[in-house]
Amino acid sequence: MLDLVRARIAAAGGALPFADFMALALYAPGLGYYSAGARKFGAGGDFTTAPELSPLFGRCLARQCREVLAVTGGAILEFGAGTGALAATVLAALADMRALPERYLILEVSADLRSRQQMRIAQLPTALAGRVEWLDRLPDEPLAGVVLANEVLDALPCERFVVRGGEAYRLGVAVDARGALEAVELATTLALPAGIDGAALPEGYQGELRPSIAPWIGSAAAALGHGLLLACDYGDARAPLYHADRIDGTLLCHFRHRAHGNPFIHVGLQDITAWVDFTAVAEAASAAGLEVAGFATQAALLLALGIERDVAAVPDERTRYARATEARLLLLPTAMGESFKAIALTRGLDAALSGFSLQDLRHRL
Ligand SMILES: C[S@@+](CC[C@H](N)C(=O)[O-])C[C@H]1O[C@@H](n2cnc3c(N)ncnc32)[C@H](O)[C@@H]1O
Repeated sequence: MLDLVRARIAAAGGALPFADFMALALYAPGLGYYSAGARKFGAGGDFTTAPELSPLFGRCLARQCREVLAVTGGAILEFGAGTGALAATVLAALADMRALPERYLILEVSADLRSRQQMRIAQLPTALAGRVEWLDRLPDEPLAGVVLANEVLDALPCERFVVRGGEAYRLGVAVDARGALEAVELATTLALPAGIDGAALPEGYQGELRPSIAPWIGSAAAALGHGLLLACDYGDARAPLYHADRIDGTLLCHFRHRAHGNPFIHVGLQDITAWVDFTAVAEAASAAGLEVAGFATQAALLLALGIERDVAAVPDERTRYARATEARLLLLPTAMGESFKAIALTRGLDAALSGFSLQDLRHRL
């Protein structure tokens, strides 16, 4: 992996933009973190996502899906399905509610994760597994129903910048005298997002920009003819995300459950992510003709969708205790409850969204 990165740096004349480095580190065929066979998720991996942590997350999302599917009919399309945990839980919960969608489509860029999803889904009863289809590209016809993306946006490559004299200079990746990777300041500048004034940011402030958000939302929006696109991720509205106090940005790497800030070690073996600018998501969605129908913390979403009832309804005491512990991790502000947000983007949907009935943070976007 390092040889490939060094070769690309040399071919680019000595430095690669950070986004190009991150795309290689995560997605280079056969070598990138998501493309190769590392374990990634769960206790034996590098990090745990909400669907991996607990079936409570998928059960709650299934309720939101049911509400929308009752109006739209059609299918669910999940982007970046990880190990298939969310798909398996949502399908099982919708079966319990007698509200199964016609099809559950998965679009996954990683061949390794796709085969793990297939093994996971194969364990479901045939009536559920038979509805799941893997797509190689977006459907030709826009679908009616629900599009889900949990922790997909944060995995899209981002640029890094450093502020010098009020301008955002692009950060790149070069090779130092010992052959190790290092960050370098490039001579080119990047346009800061609308509403962010570089002159108001301290000298040396570092942050991230994700130009891939707009095209990604644009193509996901094009796939949705009628219904809901629900994206959950860690992130915030733009103003708090680019607050002058957040002087080092939000880039984080995950390696064996240790979070740290050095993307130049364990290249191809560790996850690299940065927080999502939900204002950019909302802007791209509006440009693509979607309505921003809700924005809330993960805690507010899950509470509104009945997570407490789900915990209380577990008959066996041991399992109930385990679920209560999981619910705390999903809900607590010090865990995933506040830093993770959910955004509801709709097209032609005339239905209340229960998940967003407790909290409406859209004014912050
Ligand atoms: C952090 S993981 C989250 C996995 C899963 N959704 C979960 O919550 O456990 C990011 C996932 O997004 C996938 N991914 C990244 N870019 C993608 C894209 N452009 N389209 C579809 N999936 C993508 C990755 O391969 C991986 O499955």
